[in-house]
Amino acid sequence: MHTQVGIIGAGPAGLFLAHLLYREGIDCVVLEARSRAYVEDRVRAGVLEQGTVDLMHELGLDERLRRECMVDHAIDMRFSGKLIHIDLPGLTAGKVVTIYGQQEVVKDLIAARIADGGRIEFEAEVTGFADLDGAKPAIRYCKDGAEHTLTCDIIAGCDGFHGVARTAIPDGVLTAYDHVFPFGWLGVLAEAPPIREMTYANHDRGFALCSRRSPKISRHYVQVAPDEDAANWSDDRFWNELHVRMNDADKSEINEGKILQKGVTPVRAFVAAPMRYGKLFLAGDAAHIVPPTGAKGLNLAAADVRVLARALMAYFRTGATERLDRYSDTCLRRVWKVVRYSWHMTSLLHRFPAHSAFERNIQIGELDYLLGSRAAQQTIAENYVGLPLEDD
Ligand code: APR
Ligand code: PHB
Repeated sequence: MHTQVGIIGAGPAGLFLAHLLYREGIDCVVLEARSRAYVEDRVRAGVLEQGTVDLMHELGLDERLRRECMVDHAIDMRFSGKLIHIDLPGLTAGKVVTIYGQQEVVKDLIAARIADGGRIEFEAEVTGFADLDGAKPAIRYCKDGAEHTLTCDIIAGCDGFHGVARTAIPDGVLTAYDHVFPFGWLGVLAEAPPIREMTYANHDRGFALCSRRSPKISRHYVQVAPDEDAANWSDDRFWNELHVRMNDADKSEINEGKILQKGVTPVRAFVAAPMRYGKLFLAGDAAHIVPPTGAKGLNLAAADVRVLARALMAYFRTGATERLDRYSDTCLRRVWKVVRYSWHMTSLLHRFPAHSAFERNIQIGELDYLLGSRAAQQTIAENYVGLPLEDD
């Protein structure tokens, strides 16, 4: 079987790319190791920058999003009994963020792709490659117990951090930048109305975040040890800790409810450069991980594939390779700015076990400065709503 672009992974990166290529008449096949149900049920973040919402609109896929989303006009940060209210539109000339679960985005993208007759092979695990830097690159994958080969003109590695594309690049080509934070996030999805604002807390006992998925579903997190087992946290233990860290000791603000999902995720930053090897192009989590504090993973994946799609359009229409040759540099400029921002939010809002008393006071001092500085709040706000897309 042959296609112009072989896409590995039916996450946001692979699916957005498939839609962008389809719109330009470029043939592609998506190979996804998991089942459709598995991919659509994975709970991930849910904060969409305007650029990502615009992409859904451009692709004609925003009808349910517009109907079901929430719009956040502010974020709050709590520390030492104080509250910083960051007015997003007031600090960014009117910009806001849209709350719509990543799995909802994925459901919409998959349904539309299938309705368009697009090829998404589920339970098709990519096992290897051939001729990545040659004239006839190929993907080997296993489906229904049989080995298959898909020959491609271009391969897009959109298979996430634990995928196979990045690891197929020969030693010595990639430089990996890895930064693991000394804590993890215990996250829950709860059947409970969220509190008024997206609210972060830096408490002596640790970070906490009260987020949302809909007017009836909350998404909350508390900082835990990096190797914490979610089984150590009963529902009561979680709710009690969240009330304390959010300065809601009388439990008058945060609504408790049935916990639908509970899990621990690591907090790390990772960047692999360059995001290309021969005819293989990496996009999204396959190339980079941002600390979850910035809620940027999905948005960065969408930004990568916008750049890749424009480069592939030029390549398939005219044979021009300039944009493909600039792809990695163009994406990495944005990646490092977003990793910096997410690293900063993580450093500002978490308790670091190894912090000296001096470092703890510096952290509180920065929060106090943020409380009183419009300029400092504007810096947070302009990154939160999303930096302009790179002009590649
Ligand atoms: N063969 C086929 N598919 C694979 C393989 C493989 N060998 N390995 C991984 N995959 C699939 C995974 O099952 C997953 O569905 O690739 C997909 C990668 O999707 P994501 O991990 O969601 O990565 P990406 O599309 O870049 O989106 C990044 O998703 O994980 C979140 O927090 C992350 O918000 C960020 C966003
Ligand atoms: C989430 O809803 O998962 C979320 C929201 C804001 C963040 C991180 C995660 O900064």
